[in-house]
Amino acid sequence: MVNDPINPIARNILQFGVKRFLASTPNMMTLMRYEPMRFTAKVPAGKSGKLVCTHPPIVYLRIAPMNPPSPISKSSITCELAFSFYTDCGRNLLGNDFILWFLIRVVKTVHTIFHSDSRSLSELDVGEVHLVVTSPPYPMIEMWDSIFQLMNPDIDLTLPSDAFELMHMELDKVWEEIDRVLIDGGIVCINIGNATRSLNGSFRMYPSNVRITQKFIELGYSVLPEIIWRKQSTAPNKFMGSGMLPPNAYVTQEHEYILIFRKGELREDLEDKKQIRRSSAYFWEERNMWFSDLWNLVGTQQSLEKGGRKRSAAYPFELVYRLIQMFSVKGDIVLDPFVGTGTTSLASIASARSSIGVELDQDIIGLTIDRLLSSIPKLQQTRESRLKNHSIFVSDRISKGKVVKYHNEHIDSPVVTKQEKELTLEKVVGLELLQDSNPCMLSASYE
Ligand SMILES: C[S@@+](CC[C@H](N)C(=O)[O-])C[C@H]1O[C@@H](n2cnc3c(N)ncnc32)[C@H](O)[C@@H]1O
Repeated sequence: MVNDPINPIARNILQFGVKRFLASTPNMMTLMRYEPMRFTAKVPAGKSGKLVCTHPPIVYLRIAPMNPPSPISKSSITCELAFSFYTDCGRNLLGNDFILWFLIRVVKTVHTIFHSDSRSLSELDVGEVHLVVTSPPYPMIEMWDSIFQLMNPDIDLTLPSDAFELMHMELDKVWEEIDRVLIDGGIVCINIGNATRSLNGSFRMYPSNVRITQKFIELGYSVLPEIIWRKQSTAPNKFMGSGMLPPNAYVTQEHEYILIFRKGELREDLEDKKQIRRSSAYFWEERNMWFSDLWNLVGTQQSLEKGGRKRSAAYPFELVYRLIQMFSVKGDIVLDPFVGTGTTSLASIASARSSIGVELDQDIIGLTIDRLLSSIPKLQQTRESRLKNHSIFVSDRISKGKVVKYHNEHIDSPVVTKQEKELTLEKVVGLELLQDSNPCMLSASYE
């Protein structure tokens, strides 16, 4: 029954899902034949059911006997195996073959956190990940010395130049693993700050942005325009060096980088995901702000109440949330190989993407899971703020006599461009712990 020669990832998902489905609800639906993007199925009269697969990405299929629209258009039978979807209706539910067609909407995502060392991502398959957003431990920043020395005991801080290179050689192993698991055309976003440090009486900067960029060029990636994250400090003691006397004072570092790389050419799988891509659109006014190369975002709360270390080193939710909107579509899998307190997982849940996080520090993982499970109010607020900001933008634009030409029926609001007409913002309504041992897994549901 499930033997068409198709993409192996899709086949695994489907086989697993079909087996579970048939075991739990016999005769509800028989899958007759499938191709990567289409199903033909037989459904007994008056039945409804669901097909669920627990490994991300989830396949979630609900069949409901509703009034079918007619005629079936070719494009509407395109569906995604790679994400959650449900059918709105099927034609001829009286025991005959019928074609399911899908109104694509994400109903569930899965979030997995591995307690392991991301220099080996052996749990992940080739091409499984669509986007990487991460912030590694920063080489030559004191807070991370011990973790780098754990990864390579030869790192000797009395030899600063060697130490910097040796630390990056450990990060290189993670970048190589990312390269293996990332889909062709997938994007990598790396938040990194350059270290400034005096060692052996000598002060200098250690340009991690340059070193990481070199590595990605070596891996054959396209370097895309980077973002400067400006996080201005107001502390009066922030200036370093010889006070008011030239020439030996140093410029204060008040920015970090978000380096952006693409693996190869543009993603080919998006050709078949036109509908999901439209529903993943962002607002015109968000585009104007997010695609600027300078982001003024305040840093996030750093103190950790529990856990082994005192500082979380977390990046702001808004930073990673924007990157996910900009560089992935709903249902994609976002990977963070240094997931820490789970900001990437949180922003993925808010964005209706699945996520995989990897973290070496077991103590932090407990905190992270608690944080994620208690996040529904924050996630709903993110959605409401976007809708509210859009409504303010529209009123303001109309009051200035400018045109807001199109209408988005899903959010019942005017929008500036045609590309925003299918934009939807899923509301997170549930978070459930699926597994609390390694790997920890939770699912998010939406309406
Ligand atoms: C800069 S923090 C990331 C913080 C995260 N972005 C957040 O918002 O909480 C880096 C994290 O990587 C973890 N880490 C360091 N080396 C690792 C490795 N080899 N494998 C997995 N995690 C690692 C650290 O324990 C730390 O939690």
